Amino acid sequence: MPTSQPIDLRSDTVTKPTPEMRRVMASAEVGDEVLGDDPTVQKLEAKFAEKLGKPAACFVPTGTMANQTAIRAHTEPGDEVICSEGGHIIHYETGAPAALAGVMIRTIRGERGTFDVDDVTPLVRPDAYHFPHSKLLMLENTHNRGGGTVWPLDQIQRVCAEGRRHNLKIHLDGARLWNAHVATGVRMSEYAKPFDTISCCFSKGLGAPVGSAVAGDEVAIARVRRFKKMFGGMVRQVGILAAAAIYAMDNHIERMAEDHANARRLAEHIGNIKGLSVALGPVETNIVYFDLGNGVNMNAAQLSERLKARNVHMMATGPRRIRCVAHLDVNTAMIDEAARAIDEVATGRVAVSV
Ligand SMILES: Cc1ncc(COP(=O)(O)O)c(C=O)c1O
Repeated sequence: MPTSQPIDLRSDTVTKPTPEMRRVMASAEVGDEVLGDDPTVQKLEAKFAEKLGKPAACFVPTGTMANQTAIRAHTEPGDEVICSEGGHIIHYETGAPAALAGVMIRTIRGERGTFDVDDVTPLVRPDAYHFPHSKLLMLENTHNRGGGTVWPLDQIQRVCAEGRRHNLKIHLDGARLWNAHVATGVRMSEYAKPFDTISCCFSKGLGAPVGSAVAGDEVAIARVRRFKKMFGGMVRQVGILAAAAIYAMDNHIERMAEDHANARRLAEHIGNIKGLSVALGPVETNIVYFDLGNGVNMNAAQLSERLKARNVHMMATGPRRIRCVAHLDVNTAMIDEAARAIDEVATGRVAVSV
């Protein structure tokens, strides 16, 4: 039987603004942001910069634009960026580093999206005219394709110190840095310290409908702002959206511990279902990947199609791999219901017509 309410675990981007968030959006003070007149955007940028312990910040429409303005700000065409092979900037940003910044990317295999000093050192190019300039090192925390992996703080510090030794600029794709902060208790500003720029999203676990921001020093952020304009990201009375982001920072950070508990709960359920196994190690934050073993007589796309018929939505990310993400709009009862649906569909205990 389909559940009455959709249980949408495809991503933490599917959350809808809460009634209270909509209320603060409706009453937000606004101005023309392109002329520097929007007081709510200014308030958000100051608040975000302070939280990250950096002098300046720039509000942008998306996480993709946050990363791409930062990459462009730190590089010139022909330069090289070093990042993990599963990086969001490689797989899900439509080739933007090549198209918008004209950079090459060198990848590190690493461990669930993390890597160490020994992975970085050999990739830094010698200073000779044959080679591209190694210019930017990028980390992603938490790491999406790695399974919501949290980078250990001492490893971040080590890797960034190595980057500095080679005069690299360092950017953090912290779309879900809030999740790392909630999982470990490490302050956002502590995580941010070794980086030149950090981008975070308000539109994922924090539940705002739109928005990300980049923090850094004034020089870096002035360049980010310039490329935001160039890439078409300067919008006018955008305080309505900045208000949602402020509300999200004030009200939705600490509650993400519930999402982490729900993700662990789902992983436990999945671990008990015949033929399925939780992929990519223990669940650290709000993301769960699982694999369909050979005994399951359907592939990931077919399983997710059949679950959809029961109003349970998950994302097939490989032929036999599925991703589920816990978030603000999913409670524990819905997690249990989703697990029941997976069990019944994957083991064939209940026939589903699609
Ligand atoms: C790690 C990471 N970085 C960046 C982004 C891009 O965010 P947006 O979809 O807002 O462009 C995402 C989106 O899922 C992400 O997971």
